[in-house]
Amino acid sequence: MDIIPRIADLRTRLAGELVAFVPTMGNLHEGHLALMRQAREHGRCVVASIFVNRLQFAPHEDFDRYPRTFEADCDKLRSVGVDVLFAPDEKELYPQPQAFLVEPPAFANMLEGEFRPGFFRGVATVVLKLFNIVQPQAAVFGQKDYQQLMVVREMVKQLALPIRIVAGQTARADDGLALSSRNGYLSATERSEAPRLYRTLQAVAQAIQAGRHDFATLEAEAMEKLVENQWKPDYIAVRNQADLQLPALTDRLVIVAAAWLGKTRLIDNLEVARSDPA
Ligand code: PAJ
Repeated sequence: MDIIPRIADLRTRLAGELVAFVPTMGNLHEGHLALMRQAREHGRCVVASIFVNRLQFAPHEDFDRYPRTFEADCDKLRSVGVDVLFAPDEKELYPQPQAFLVEPPAFANMLEGEFRPGFFRGVATVVLKLFNIVQPQAAVFGQKDYQQLMVVREMVKQLALPIRIVAGQTARADDGLALSSRNGYLSATERSEAPRLYRTLQAVAQAIQAGRHDFATLEAEAMEKLVENQWKPDYIAVRNQADLQLPALTDRLVIVAAAWLGKTRLIDNLEVARSDPA
C-alpha cells in the first residue's frame, strides 16, 4: 500500500487509474474495512483517506480527543488490500482557512443538522475537496451515517459530479451496537447499555410492521425508554427513506436516532422492511 500525504504526489500516483474511494477519519473498525472490500467491486484501484476534518466539528465537540491510531489503521488497510492511502495533514488540505464552503440544502438542517449546526457544511466541503483531489469514479459511504450519505448523494447530483455513490450496510457488534470510532469512549457499563439504542429502533420497527402508524407517539415512547435508562436522546424520528421528511403512510420508512450515553453521542438507524399489504 502506498501511503501518500501530499496532493501533488497523489495526483501523480493516480493518473490514469480507475479509482474507488473510501474517505474516513481513521480509527478504523470492521465497518470501515467492509466498505474497503466493497470498493474493490467498483474500481481497479482502491483509495482510502484518513483525515480528521476540523471543519465538521463544533468548537465544543471532540475534535481534539477524536482517536488517532494511524499505524494500526495502516495495518488494517493493508490487510484488506487497499492500494493507496491518502493521509494529508491539516496544512496540506487546508493551507489557508477554508473560506469557500459547500452549503447543503435545507434538509441538512434537520435531525443531525439541527443538533450539530454546520456539521454537514463541514462534511460536504471536505468530501467535495477530497473528490476533486482523488477524482474517483465511485465512492463508498456507510448507511450508518444515513443523512450524511443522503447529503453526499444530493451534492453529487446537484453539482453533476461524475462519481457513483455506493452505500455500505451498517456493520454491528454481536449485540447489535453499530460499530463506531466513538464506541471507544464508552466505559464498560456504558458499553453494555449501548445496544439498547438499536433494540429501541427494532422495537419501533416491529410496532410499525404490526400496524401502528402513530409515529409521534412511537417516537415519544422510544425516547422515554432511553431516558428511563439514563440516556439523553437528541431525537428518534420515523421518516421517509427518500428524503428524510415526515412520512406519508405509503412511504418506505427509516427510523433515525441520536442519543447521548454519558459523554458519548451515538447515532443509528433502521430501515423498516415493508410488511406485505394484506
Ligand atoms: P468516519 O466516521 O470515519 O466514517 C467513514 C465511513 O465509514 C463513512 O462513510 C461512515 O458512514 C462509514 N461507517 C462508519 N461506521 C460504520 C459502520 N458501523 N458500518 C458501516 N459503515 C460505517 O463519516 C466520516 O468519517 C466523515 O464524516 C467523512 C465522510 C470521512 C468526512 O470527513
